[in-house]
Amino acid sequence: MNSIPFTKSSRVKGTDKYVLDLLSSTNPLSGNGTYTKSCQNFLVNRYKINKVLLTTSCTDALEMAAILCDIKQGDEIIVPSYTFVSTANAFVLRGAKIVFADSSEKNPNISPSSIRKLISKKTKAIVPVHYAGVACEMDEICKIAKEYGLFVIEDAAQAIEASYNGSQLGTIGDLGTFSFHDTKNISSGEGGALLINNPILKERAEIIWEKGTNRSAFIRGEVNKYSWVDIGSSFLPSELNAAYLLGQLEMIEEITKNRKRSWDFYKENLKSSELITTQSECANAHIFYLLVSEEKKRNEILNGLKSKGIGATFHFLPLGKSEFSKRMNFFDESSMALNYSNSIIRLPLYYGMEDVELKFICDAIKELI
Ligand SMILES: Cc1ncc(COP(=O)(O)O)c(C=O)c1O
Repeated sequence: MNSIPFTKSSRVKGTDKYVLDLLSSTNPLSGNGTYTKSCQNFLVNRYKINKVLLTTSCTDALEMAAILCDIKQGDEIIVPSYTFVSTANAFVLRGAKIVFADSSEKNPNISPSSIRKLISKKTKAIVPVHYAGVACEMDEICKIAKEYGLFVIEDAAQAIEASYNGSQLGTIGDLGTFSFHDTKNISSGEGGALLINNPILKERAEIIWEKGTNRSAFIRGEVNKYSWVDIGSSFLPSELNAAYLLGQLEMIEEITKNRKRSWDFYKENLKSSELITTQSECANAHIFYLLVSEEKKRNEILNGLKSKGIGATFHFLPLGKSEFSKRMNFFDESSMALNYSNSIIRLPLYYGMEDVELKFICDAIKELI
């Protein structure tokens, strides 16, 4: 058996067709052209979102969200400790203080009761992260946010095609963000999107996206000149990325179905035991993880899989425990997050996995246990 990587980009046949069309046309390759608009419309229609802006990454979409919510020096933002750096960095860049909440007992997602304990007069926003595409407890989180007048910004980097009570994740709070990084279910190499649910934030979002100008309104013929009207940056991707993304989005059902098939294979063939718990909810099959109750054994299994050429891997180190967090005096209430960090193993999962590969991985795990 050749080595099995942890991830591969979803190079589905035909997804390059719009890139080839674009390159053979004379259309500009810069951003906010027809392919950008087509991707945005696709997402608006599929997920019933108020407005969508494509960005160059989920990190950029989070940075836009922080600007849009007017996050300032001294504001406090509640973020799960168990997440990727960008979830916190976007707000630190605006001078905010991060307050790290813990994971829940049932999965690595933020615990609503941990959020409640951390609210102060300075709290401005809660940033739930839908880990592995599995929904956070959004009813409870939105209830807390409403009670205290806080923004909810959903980091749905991993959650395209995953929902909560019938609503796509990322469309429930004031703002949401997707990632189209190469490791994600739907990819444009590097890419992302800002999902704007709160109508009050719609107009300003476009200005921040277009480097602080009202260029979008000018293109629509609403103003006869465009000028500098606010702060902003270069958040929009090139048409090349958007053309590739449109091909991917049009294959979204096929890609998700194929990943779910692999996810189900793991779930059927790897049973939970005293030592190992398998992920309970499939969501969008972005990740399949195991939790190993002893850290030493977890590391042994990871090393054993590596020696067989299987690209299984751990995941986040809790941000609240990082050297940077300590230096910044960020409050960290997490303990469960560290447990998840020390026990998780993510198995290879990508579009087009073959049964022989899946069987080889499951057999290897059983042998190592
Ligand atoms: C939870 C979470 N947020 C944000 C990001 C950043 O996404 P991007 O690489 O598109 O900036 C990631 C990337 O993996 C992520 O997992």
